[in-house]
Amino acid sequence: MERLSGNEQNLKKRAAGIKESLIGWRRHLHQFPELSFQEEETSAFIATCLEQLHGIEIQKGIAGHGIIAVLRNGDGPVIALRADMDALPIQESTGLPFASKRDGVMHACGHDAHTAILLGVARLLAEDYQSGVLPNGTIKFLFQPAEEDTDEFGLTGAPYFLQAGVLDDVEAALALHMCPWRKTGELQVHSGPSMASVDNFKLTIKGDGGHAGYPHQTIDPIWIATHVLQGIYGLTGRRVDPLGVAALSVGGINGGTALNVIPDQVTIKGTVRAYTEKVRQQLIEELEAVAATARLFGGSYQLTIEKGEPALVNDPALVALYKETARSLFPAMGIYEAPFGMGGEDFSHIAEKLPAAMAFLGCGWEDQDSHPLHSPLFEVNEEVLPIGVALLTGAARRLLQQ
Ligand code: NI
Repeated sequence: MERLSGNEQNLKKRAAGIKESLIGWRRHLHQFPELSFQEEETSAFIATCLEQLHGIEIQKGIAGHGIIAVLRNGDGPVIALRADMDALPIQESTGLPFASKRDGVMHACGHDAHTAILLGVARLLAEDYQSGVLPNGTIKFLFQPAEEDTDEFGLTGAPYFLQAGVLDDVEAALALHMCPWRKTGELQVHSGPSMASVDNFKLTIKGDGGHAGYPHQTIDPIWIATHVLQGIYGLTGRRVDPLGVAALSVGGINGGTALNVIPDQVTIKGTVRAYTEKVRQQLIEELEAVAATARLFGGSYQLTIEKGEPALVNDPALVALYKETARSLFPAMGIYEAPFGMGGEDFSHIAEKLPAAMAFLGCGWEDQDSHPLHSPLFEVNEEVLPIGVALLTGAARRLLQQ
């Protein structure tokens, strides 16, 4: 234990020592972002970095362009550390010298930083392995593609990692996410439900179109939609327990082309977010009931729901481990306990199957406001990179020792 705690002390220095590499990796990834399921070059870049490390086995082609790097060091716990690697369909407007070179594609959720940090962690742990100071156990580094978007089967990357069986023997999984609303050097953690489930819906209200001057001869789907929308917007406020956590938003309404023609259908698209399976299921059922009111007005409806990721539920013991590691490495670090909001995160699929925790690591500035995740102006304070490496490496080492 003496030697191990000595190693932890050293971690900050060693992580700082590879800062230039971390920045280089991150900036390379940032300049050449790739969309979900298209991360071919990103994957090749990650593989090239990993191949330089000793003792690491690399398995490619999981969930498309995913990579699993495995460091085996005798009998002991099997743990996983996960980074996502895909970018978003956003036109970057930061004006940074290393801004995206690809039109309409941008690393606006920090996945470039997540990948660079995990490469750094792999490097430090591989060094530990080589010098014989790595605690016993197996570490699986998951470089996961397609966190942001689904394929034609409605799945993101994480479910494919689970399907491939690579997590079957894993006892605990950790992940970090960039947190622009916190300053660099701060950490936000939360036990239990911490990010929302995401289910998207498309509701088509069908009527009978006709001349706008003779509405009584039609079944007007726009009129029906105004009632249905009232019902939809009332669900979170009137039907869900006020102590439940939920959001239900409509993001698109389409119907009609001419001002003097009543169309025969209207389509309403939206998203349902919740923190528990109970509220999630309730909202889906209530949505169906509201849609069915279209019949009261003589219309009909079709409701399709694409079920996405479940809520992210963080394991309390792993959250405690993150906090202990942070306090030990960075005694002055501000640690905030609060849920991460109503966004979704497909790491939740992994957290549903095994104990797992994601922590949000501040990447903002002291003296300037940060742009949010998924903004064309999103930026990462790169000082966060060595902090993330030290924290995740330290947490992994502690986990192996448990
Ligand atoms: Ni993200």
